[in-house]
Amino acid sequence: MRFGIIGSGFIAQWFADAVAQESAAQIVAVTSARPERARAFAEQHDVAHAHTSVEDLLSAHGPHSDDPIDVVYIASPNAFHGEQAIAALQAGFHVLVEKPFALNLMEARAMVETARLANRFLMEAWLSAFEPGVARLREALPRLGRIHRAVLVKEQFSSRMSAYREGSLPATFDPAMGGGSLMDLGIYPVNLAIHLFGRPDRVTASGQLLDSGVDSHGTVVLDYEHGEHSGLQVVCLHSKTSQGGVDSMIASDHSALVFDDCQWPRRIELHESGSGDQRTENLSVRRRGAQLRYELAEVCRLVRSGAHESGLHPLYASEAAVDVLSQARAQTGVRFPSDPER
Ligand SMILES: NC(=O)c1ccc[n+]([C@@H]2O[C@H](COP(=O)([O-])OP(=O)(O)OC[C@H]3O[C@@H](n4cnc5c(N)ncnc54)[C@H](OP(=O)(O)O)[C@@H]3O)[C@@H](O)[C@H]2O)c1
Repeated sequence: MRFGIIGSGFIAQWFADAVAQESAAQIVAVTSARPERARAFAEQHDVAHAHTSVEDLLSAHGPHSDDPIDVVYIASPNAFHGEQAIAALQAGFHVLVEKPFALNLMEARAMVETARLANRFLMEAWLSAFEPGVARLREALPRLGRIHRAVLVKEQFSSRMSAYREGSLPATFDPAMGGGSLMDLGIYPVNLAIHLFGRPDRVTASGQLLDSGVDSHGTVVLDYEHGEHSGLQVVCLHSKTSQGGVDSMIASDHSALVFDDCQWPRRIELHESGSGDQRTENLSVRRRGAQLRYELAEVCRLVRSGAHESGLHPLYASEAAVDVLSQARAQTGVRFPSDPER
């Protein structure tokens, strides 16, 4: 599978590390607005073409070109995911787009519709769906019986916070780039809740804002009022200003699944109590290799098989997450310049 990457920053490096471990994958081209950065990335990862614009990459690597690309991987800031996914799909490429899928529901729907019309594969790069730890959670969930409560946590002090505090405005804290804790980290618990329990019926959110206008940390509460999970409440904690340290958990009357990280669970325990005794079963998993390795292998397999979306992380789930994040942003007071007028 031949990839072109839009962006050459942090996550593009992780992607290249995964490609180096996946024999079915190869990076053909990369973009950066800064020619020296594009060239440095290309040299470091043995990539044949370094472009300075998205347009150049899309026009140079069509199916009849000397060096065609199958899949465009969009690794640019959140605000560009929608327009770049649509441009790549319209140019005839399959698309893997970083999380969060889109800034708002209108944009998400336009992306899905474009993929359908173009007959191309489209998926949000939410790596957790393909992690062995999340597979273990899916297997273990039926053992809990009726679930009442989940607390899903993604808290991580941002490596860009010092730069922000010193007066610069990294994309991750810039409303014009679709930044903030909800969009960057809140997406992990929200996507996991939708993955395990489906679309919630009610969203209640609050958070703290930085001077830039995006949120630094907050809480999203998802209530399920109908169907299999009626009565379930999922509390999503997200933060870019604190280190975290609290486990995630999913609980029923007498059982709880407790796990270390809702992006890539590794330490997983099932606690069961009943008739006076307490038991803990270790369900931990070992993951091996690069951070994006499992996701990349699945994308290669899906595109090769002619699939147009992932069954494990389908497009309706990405749309549902965008809807939840948009409601949460509105309640928290995070507005992006591109938001539709209310
Ligand atoms: N899956 C994960 O675990 C994970 C982890 C981190 C981030 N992410 C996601 O990955 C995306 C990128 O984050 P990052 O941390 O890699 O950011 P980053 O380090 O700032 O890199 C972003 C890259 O995009 C380029 N870029 C900026 N504006 C662009 C535009 N208009 N068109 C094309 N390229 C543009 C940047 O600048 P130049 O053009 O100057 O090179 C840079 O190369 C975000 O959506 C984020 O949510 C995912």
